[in-house]
Amino acid sequence: MRPLRVGMIGIGTVGTGTFRVLARNQALIAGRAGRGIKLVVVCARSLARAMGVVGTDVALTNDPMQVATHPDVDVLVEAAGGTGPARDWVMAAIRAGKHVVTANKALLAEHGNEIFAAARQHGVAVAYEGAVAVSIPIVKALREGLTANRIEWVAGIINGTTNFILSKMRDEGVGFAEALAQAQALGYAEADPTFDIEGIDAAHKISLLAANAFGMPVRFADAQVEGITALQGLDVACAEQLGYRIKLLGVAKRRKDGDTEGVELRVQPALVPATHLLAHVNGSMNGIMVKGDASGVTMYYGAGAGSEQTASAVIADLVDVARLDGTHAAQRVPHLGFHPHAVDEQLA
Ligand code: HSE
Repeated sequence: MRPLRVGMIGIGTVGTGTFRVLARNQALIAGRAGRGIKLVVVCARSLARAMGVVGTDVALTNDPMQVATHPDVDVLVEAAGGTGPARDWVMAAIRAGKHVVTANKALLAEHGNEIFAAARQHGVAVAYEGAVAVSIPIVKALREGLTANRIEWVAGIINGTTNFILSKMRDEGVGFAEALAQAQALGYAEADPTFDIEGIDAAHKISLLAANAFGMPVRFADAQVEGITALQGLDVACAEQLGYRIKLLGVAKRRKDGDTEGVELRVQPALVPATHLLAHVNGSMNGIMVKGDASGVTMYYGAGAGSEQTASAVIADLVDVARLDGTHAAQRVPHLGFHPHAVDEQLA
């Protein structure tokens, strides 16, 4: 079988990690996918820098649209970030019949409904395991392992930067600004770190998790969001003395008011008892708990940010696409993207 041919836009943190892991584990990944996965073209701002990463066997261009619609590309990996232009590239790729893999949670939180609808219409997959809690396969867990369940709630620590800041403040007495600077230096923070510290990044992620868990549209704009910028060292120390840890939590929970059923979506700093499992999720790690009616509570723990950690998820999506590419479209989209068959009328 011919390899799955990948076009990538962006060769920064996510793109570089994806190239490196694909190259390092090439044979292993091909064995699992049933075919090779080959990067054929990359769009980068600096072609010289890109060549320094991917070498001379991969075609290079400055034109993202060329990658999105390239005749030799089966799947677009959007690894540039941002929302406006990224939306246009992704939509162009879908219209050209390409599958899409992205870790861009801002893009999907803002434009996911339109993107998933277009993917269904064109019979391609949009996969985004890397968009939420990078190394934790939470989208897969909701889509596959927990698929028999009526999910009651999803809650957890889904932003590595803020968890790193809160851990540094508590464990080492580091000030907020210095802890943020360290998180930025380690590559955990978004290009605009206000997305992290104001809770917006976590809200992007919880809205995607809710869409998966409850079969509802992505409702980022309706999330109630509070970040950690108002917190001071004293708050963190007082919480500690009282037997709690302050954690920025994302929560998506079914709610029933009379006959009306809905989903509560929120991000806020919370006092977590020091004995609770989530209190022990520290540094840039993420921890997510899911309550299913049959499974009960399950918990997932792992790196919430990082180059190869995100690559791990992006490549898992590529392997899924490699396995499904060529199958009938009706089988394909529900597996990888949104759950069009599972939409709960009351939540739509
Ligand atoms: N800035 C994000 C975080 C990166 O800190 O969690 C991974 O999504």
